[in-house]
Amino acid sequence: MKEIPSQSVDAVVSTLVLCSADGLQKTFKEIQRVLVPGGKFFFMEHVIDTSLSAIKIAQIIFGSLGIAQFLLDGCRPDKDIKKELEIGGFASVDVRRFRLDLKELPLAHSGTYLIQPHIYGTATTFK
Ligand SMILES: C[S@@+](CC[C@H](N)C(=O)[O-])C[C@H]1O[C@@H](n2cnc3c(N)ncnc32)[C@H](O)[C@@H]1O
Repeated sequence: MKEIPSQSVDAVVSTLVLCSADGLQKTFKEIQRVLVPGGKFFFMEHVIDTSLSAIKIAQIIFGSLGIAQFLLDGCRPDKDIKKELEIGGFASVDVRRFRLDLKELPLAHSGTYLIQPHIYGTATTFK
């Protein structure tokens, strides 16, 4: 966001981008740079599953072998974005989890299996 001056925006919104972002901590620093003090980062992202599951194993295999990055626009399905946010230098982080309802998704998009676990929430910068 080089073209955006520092401390110039009230909010940054990210939906399904951090899976592909190259370096989450670097990304959070840039978000914090453009936000005003007390500014909000709103996010909704798919994340690695919480407990050991078939989905988590598939996420690790596809992520570590680079298969998902190749097929899905740089996406890594095995990122623990919640943990990264919590150590990301924000004043506060409010994260909630949800899972996509696979019954509601088109069968043609089998990549959705890998991105079933999601988070959404808000991270606030220091005032
Ligand atoms: C998995 S795709 C999802 C695309 C879109 N958000 C959607 O929901 O259909 C992730 C996207 O994040 C983009 N991306 C990765 N790093 C980025 C960055 N630093 N700035 C802007 N976009 C980025 C990639 O180009 C890619 O298109």
